[in-house]
Amino acid sequence: MISMKKLSILPQLAVTAALVFAGSAAQADEVKGNAAAGNGKVWLCVGCHSIPEYRADYPLVYKVPMIGGQNAAYIASALAAYKKGERKHPTMRSIAASLSDQDMADIGEYYAAQTASSPNNPLK
Ligand code: HEC
Repeated sequence: MISMKKLSILPQLAVTAALVFAGSAAQADEVKGNAAAGNGKVWLCVGCHSIPEYRADYPLVYKVPMIGGQNAAYIASALAAYKKGERKHPTMRSIAASLSDQDMADIGEYYAAQTASSPNNPLK
């Protein structure tokens, strides 16, 4: 009897798992980042996060993290955390509040493609 009950629940689990999987796959498609699109969205960020200013202008005031070359998903999730208030920095919170999930994904891909020595990427 007990084993029959366990078996009868399996198809339901399989259906649930399939739905969850379909849901997350659809969501991942929706917010797939595009570095070229991100290029048009980082004008707000370069004043603080461009590498020359990171080195020269801000260390005495803030430590502005270098985000060029970071993992795209990390950048997008950091931005989402500022937007939700899980991260507290006030400037970053107000900037992230204006970004959509798509913006965050695009910006993540854009910065992930940068390196300290990228010669043709002045906007790190
Ligand atoms: C006024 C200066 C300023 C501007 C403009 C700015 N940031 Fe920031 N950003 C900071 C500072 C300072 C921090 C560190 C905050 C903290 O300690 O939480 C930070 C943190 C971050 C982080 C987290 C980095 C990490 O390693 O955890 C990301 C990602 C980020 N910014 C992305 C952006 C993006 C994308 C933009 C443009 C849409 C932007 N920032 C605009 C100053 C700025």
